[in-house]
Amino acid sequence: FGKHGIFVERTLAIIKPDAIENANEIEDMILKNGFTILQKRRIILSAEQCSDFYSEHYGKKFFPSLVAFMTSGPILALILARENAILSWRELIGPTNSTQARESHPDRFRIYVRALFGTNEQKNAVHGSDSAVSAEREIRFFFPNSIVEPIPLGRPARDY
Ligand code: TYD
Ligand code: MG
Repeated sequence: FGKHGIFVERTLAIIKPDAIENANEIEDMILKNGFTILQKRRIILSAEQCSDFYSEHYGKKFFPSLVAFMTSGPILALILARENAILSWRELIGPTNSTQARESHPDRFRIYVRALFGTNEQKNAVHGSDSAVSAEREIRFFFPNSIVEPIPLGRPARDY
């Protein structure tokens, strides 16, 4: 990104249909953990869109019910920015299975998002990108017009 660019890592979070009523509380947790919410979009996915988003899981036993669940109501897609955003968000949400998330604690004073708001291995409240490649793909999936270039520093705002 050139010698005058900065780069703050971004990741994609989704508040899933089972947790949409807890969206405000989850957003509070996001902000308290140092993330900035750059963009937010509430949508209902079609089965086709959902299958595309989760294409890495196509053919697995749980795929049809995953698509049914994820299209059962509105979701909230969020672009989160923070230093080390991808790993930090995955650490905050906890294990995929909410039952397992409730059985393990990151430490004495914190509780995983999936432990608080999820139910089981499918209804687990939130999504988080699992790598830089996934984050870029998933951010573009929900926010095709988002600016992915780093923000250049040291130039007046009118230059860009
Ligand atoms: P996966 O990518 O393995 O988990 P994560 O969301 O932690 O990256 O799976 C994607 C979603 O599929 C997961 O959030 C919930 C659902 N799922 C099931 O319904 N059953 C399962 O056995 C697994 C592994 C996942
Ligand atoms: Mg995954």
